[in-house]
Amino acid sequence: MNNELKIVPSILSADFANLGRDIAAIENDCEALHIDIMDGHYVPNLSMGVPVVKSIRKVSKLTFDTHLMITNPEDFIKPFAEAGSDMITFHIECTKDAEALIADIRKLGVKAGVAIHPDTPIEVLAPFCKKGACDLILIMCVNPGFGEQSFMESAYDRIRAVRKMLDDDSSEALLAIDGGIRPSNIASAAEAGARHIVAGSAVFKSEDPGATVRKLTKLGNDSIR
Ligand code: DX5
Ligand code: ZN
Repeated sequence: MNNELKIVPSILSADFANLGRDIAAIENDCEALHIDIMDGHYVPNLSMGVPVVKSIRKVSKLTFDTHLMITNPEDFIKPFAEAGSDMITFHIECTKDAEALIADIRKLGVKAGVAIHPDTPIEVLAPFCKKGACDLILIMCVNPGFGEQSFMESAYDRIRAVRKMLDDDSSEALLAIDGGIRPSNIASAAEAGARHIVAGSAVFKSEDPGATVRKLTKLGNDSIR
């Protein structure tokens, strides 16, 4: 596998009145931007929608990693792909046919990711950890819906278990984690096997978001070298 760890800032914690400015602050320090889409049904919160993604697409060259926390992902993969998403991740809890949804996302020329809620047993991911089955597995390390929550310690075993499932089948899918990542726990998360590390408040609520991305990237990579 490509062993490099990457920080993926989540704009949920950015200043929505200054999204362009906040994205510019991290644009040269990372490769991808995490965009949280919430519907007030699957999660008890609302965030942003297609028009926001379309607008920020004009001001950023980053890979757009769109995380759908919505009950009907099938209805929105096309609009989010057309708005400029490069990767679309849906929740395994929100679809009856994840294989078909992955195929439909890929048909749109977009990478397909599968996210899992902390309460869902990790074993449901087995088919998606097979080589080529999807492009990214996202393990939620907080209850989805809000930024600035604490990392659940129970996530470490889940990260290790999924890392093993992916490696056992030589899957190249990215192992992503989302929620509660800080300078204090990034090394442990990296050691457990995560490589696509979403970080919202740690980045955008810091004094210098670009420097924080560089710092987290270094801390994570140093711990696995
Ligand atoms: C939570 C979102 C996360 C959120 C993470 O439901 O999926 O992407 O932005 O925020 P932090 O890093 O502050 O926990
Ligand atoms: Zn997210």
